[in-house]
Amino acid sequence: MAAAALCVLVTGGAGYIGSHTVLQLLLHGYKTVVIDNLDNSSEVAITRVSQLAGDHAHNLAFHKMDIRDKHALEQLFASTKFDAVIHFAGLKAVGESVHKPLMYYNNNIIGTITLLEVMAAYECKKLVFSSSATVYGWPKEVPCTEEFPLSAANPYGRTKLMIEDICRDMYASDFNWKFILLRYFNPIGAHPSGQIGEDPRGIPNNLMPFIQQVAVGRQPALQVFGTDYSTKDGTGVRDYIHVVDLAEGHTAALKKLSDPKIGCEVYNLGTGKGTSVLEIVTAFEKASGKNIPLVKTGRRPGDAEIVYASTAKAERELNWKAKYGIEEMCRDQWNWAIKNPYGYQTKETR
Ligand code: NAD
Ligand code: WQD
Repeated sequence: MAAAALCVLVTGGAGYIGSHTVLQLLLHGYKTVVIDNLDNSSEVAITRVSQLAGDHAHNLAFHKMDIRDKHALEQLFASTKFDAVIHFAGLKAVGESVHKPLMYYNNNIIGTITLLEVMAAYECKKLVFSSSATVYGWPKEVPCTEEFPLSAANPYGRTKLMIEDICRDMYASDFNWKFILLRYFNPIGAHPSGQIGEDPRGIPNNLMPFIQQVAVGRQPALQVFGTDYSTKDGTGVRDYIHVVDLAEGHTAALKKLSDPKIGCEVYNLGTGKGTSVLEIVTAFEKASGKNIPLVKTGRRPGDAEIVYASTAKAERELNWKAKYGIEEMCRDQWNWAIKNPYGYQTKETR
């Protein structure tokens, strides 16, 4: 008899990384229940994931829910037995977190504590958490290994550090817990179908969504934040990773949660390669055939010079490695952009 499919709860699964991960989970045969309050996403993403999942679509369920709504979470856990939780739900805009710290602590910290309380009550003690390379601050050297000292330069980063610490404390208090903390580097790109992708609200903060909006005529030019860094061309260097590779990293992490030896472990998800702002612009121009006008300005406060991952631990222990390069990331970003210039909405509804 075939083993019953494992059932995974995905918080924030309508979002950018969540939607790509949910699709990969379905394609790998998992039953997947998504909860999302749709604060920074659209239910259309879930519909598109369901379409892309084909024969696996019946394994997908969606509930509009806030992770801070303990009663709703309890009802969900009472009705469904989850084998594990992947926890994406959270606010992620660095600048906004500086202006609205309480909103970030309330959503990210209280949300996570509520989730962990309900998981504990229902004896579901396996969690994959979306941490971030932001916890490396301004690294003294690269590549960043998981053992590097941790710091946070803003409330958003502090929520990631605090949640990592909460997970470490939970594990120390009860070895039945299993945690995998995934530190993402810079996810970009979209599913190759062009049906799901990143759809930021308002003016994008991050490089790739901004470039995309310049290319489709929604922004006049890209500001290059800093041209005097000690890098190959003076612009900041980051480790960009295709969102589909990142999504696959989560299926690898889920498998790892079944390893009896796992306790609370941290893994970088990056490519191990550094790419400058100007290199990304050139690659995107090539993929799209569009000219991206540039305005060279000063450094953005708080920005590090060079950040890229050591991928050795994830390769060794998760048996996972990113497959795609910058060319494919730009190709798929552009495919998503031309098919959805206004994201999941239209020019009229945006
Ligand atoms: P996203 O905003 O697209 O997805 C987050 C989702 O969580 C959204 O759909 C939002 O509506 C939902 N959400 C937020 N608060 C919620 C709440 N209280 N209850 C229920 N749903 C809630 O962001 P993303 O880029 O997909 O990021 C996913 C996770 O990965 C976040 O935790 C983020 O901090 C982390 N992360 C992202 C990046 C990045 O560059 N995108 C890098 C490192 C880490
Ligand atoms: C990349 C490079 C900028 C915009 C952020 C968060 C981090 C993580 C990923 C969640 C830098 C430059 C950018 C622009 C530019 N998110 N840039 N013009 O800063 O590496 O990381 O997203 O966890 O926590 O801090 O990503 O895409 O904002 O910037 O020149 O309009 O592009 O200076 O060198 P970052 P980014």
